[in-house]
Amino acid sequence: MSSKGDSSEGRIISVASGKGGTGKTITTLNLAMELHKLGKDVTIVDADLEDPNLGINLGLYSPQSTINESLEKDRSLVEAVHIHETGMRLIPASLSINYINTSLRSIDKAFKKLGGYIIVDCGPGLSENVVSCIDQSDSVIAVTNPMRSAVSGAVRLTEMVKDLDKTVEGIVVNNLTSKEISPKEISSITGCDVLGEVPYDINIDRSIVNKKPLVHHKPYSKASFAYRKIAHDIVDEEFKPKAKHHIRRYVDSLLSSLMAR
Ligand SMILES: Nc1ncnc2c1ncn2[C@@H]1O[C@H](COP(=O)(O)OP(=O)(O)O)[C@@H](O)[C@H]1O
Ligand SMILES: [Mg+2]
Repeated sequence: MSSKGDSSEGRIISVASGKGGTGKTITTLNLAMELHKLGKDVTIVDADLEDPNLGINLGLYSPQSTINESLEKDRSLVEAVHIHETGMRLIPASLSINYINTSLRSIDKAFKKLGGYIIVDCGPGLSENVVSCIDQSDSVIAVTNPMRSAVSGAVRLTEMVKDLDKTVEGIVVNNLTSKEISPKEISSITGCDVLGEVPYDINIDRSIVNKKPLVHHKPYSKASFAYRKIAHDIVDEEFKPKAKHHIRRYVDSLLSSLMAR
């Protein structure tokens, strides 16, 4: 059994960051898709109600049912579950400004009732809605970029998670283009383990155009490998890619860099 929770039945993990645009939504999508590929029961939830784009990244532009409606009409979140063509379950948020003021304060035990692994894509910062999500989660993944402004946000977030008596699952250092602060330094500044280092990957924007998570669109890209390793860590399984997968990764990254020219 995992020390972080019950790995056989799953747990509720919020993906948050002290700063916007660090890669929370991309992390949610790709981590969840990898957990799904590992045979886990996974639901992703869009809890960024001010800038919802989890559904958009999967090509769901006008969802019939949303987290906003469920909360405001006091219905079960199960009614807002959509199944993506990859088989992953998704609860989108409304894109309508009529629902802009939906509060997550009443989320209460709603995530838990869904069962399995629930990966919650939070809004940026430490707003009341983010605190409500974290309060209903078992653990939190803090996503940061290797820049001072983002890392200071990660420090505030991880302090808050600890204050709420929740577990920091780990830090994901995303979009490693700049080397302003190394993952090792980020770990020492925050006092938390680095769960994964995700490189800049040009295929991420292409995967959004294709309405699929990167790990589905380009499973052998460098960033896909990073997400696969994070997913294995979450379920306490060893990540041992075969030699032929390393070769595929090498060929794919070579092709991507040639196409980027
Ligand atoms: N590892 C990465 N490589 C390349 N681009 C990335 C990467 N991570 C994020 N991005 C880009 O940054 C944008 C914002 O990421 P997103 O996950 O939506 O941020 P957040 O949810 O934290 O606001 C993405 O749409 C994508 O264009
Ligand atoms: Mg987002």
